[in-house]
Amino acid sequence: NDRQTGILARYREFLPVTDKTPLVSLHEGNTPLIHAPNLSKQLGLELYVKYEGLNPTGSFKDRGMVMAVAKAVEEGSTTIMCASTGNTSAAAAAYAARCGLRCIVLIPSGNIALGKLAQAIAYGAEVIAIDGNFDEALNIVREITANEPITLVNSVNPYRIEGQKSAAFEVCDALGDAPDILAIPVGNAGNITAYWKGFKEYKAAGKSSSLPRMFGFQAAGAAPLVHGEPVPHPETVATAIRIGNPASKDGALNAISESNGLIDSVTDEEILQAYQLLAKSEGVFCEPASAASLAGIIKKKEQGKLPKGAKVACVLTGNGLKDPNIALGLVGEEPRSVPATREAVMALVSQKGSE
Ligand code: F0G
Repeated sequence: NDRQTGILARYREFLPVTDKTPLVSLHEGNTPLIHAPNLSKQLGLELYVKYEGLNPTGSFKDRGMVMAVAKAVEEGSTTIMCASTGNTSAAAAAYAARCGLRCIVLIPSGNIALGKLAQAIAYGAEVIAIDGNFDEALNIVREITANEPITLVNSVNPYRIEGQKSAAFEVCDALGDAPDILAIPVGNAGNITAYWKGFKEYKAAGKSSSLPRMFGFQAAGAAPLVHGEPVPHPETVATAIRIGNPASKDGALNAISESNGLIDSVTDEEILQAYQLLAKSEGVFCEPASAASLAGIIKKKEQGKLPKGAKVACVLTGNGLKDPNIALGLVGEEPRSVPATREAVMALVSQKGSE
């Protein structure tokens, strides 16, 4: 049924959708919860991945953006603006294009994955790169939108959190109940806040009977919630979560304490290992930041902190195609070039087969 397309129609009863809210949709949400049999066996867990890379712009941001943009349209706004490490800007640009809004995005110069920049440009956003990081970009955007008739669409806009909580509903529907543990990468901390809100609301509505423990993972060089103070110069290969002063800090800390969960950090090396493991042993390609969830679960398993057989859902926030340079850089070698003959190709095939 086409009218049930997208999260605004599907989860209307849980969302701030009124008779005046346009039911905007690019078919966001309804992403698969993929069982990971090989890693489950290896780790002694029942492991699933929520593959948010299959959203229309390739990340979970579409869930929050469709809600925020629909409300901006409902309120008569004609311009939206955000700061972004890349994915938010891609989502904002797409939904703005769909609804005929002007879209202005601020990005940290030199620290955004190629695919995300390509998206923002293709969807027609006005892209401004600042000589600064995400936290500085967000401060500027907050100041401007407080004084101009421009709608802020970062996750400090509460409609973003409302839309994003829909992913928790889908995890419960796919499993028949909440998992034991929900593992999630944490950057600006909006998504962990949204998932926890979603799990609680679904349970209150009688749609699930339990709540998961929330496990948040930050990159070691950008782990303000782990250290308990802002990080002025965050650094990590996972540029999506290169954030030193999360706007939704309180929401994240609340989710962790209410759920008896935890927040921890994973190194860039651990992130890249998990990133390759997912692709090579399960056939699921996510972006580096997304792999922080699995990296964290592997770390906790090694520390003996996970009960055997626990049902764990790792949120894979974005698609691996967003950041092709990382994948290519890790392989470290160009594809082998040979003459265009069967013999030349077979020489390599037999050599590889016997290695
Ligand atoms: N994973 C990916 C792929 C992201 O793009 C982000 C955030 C996160 C995880 C962290 O989510 O901020 O809600 O804790 N990206 C934002 C952006 C900052 O601008 O695209 P969070």
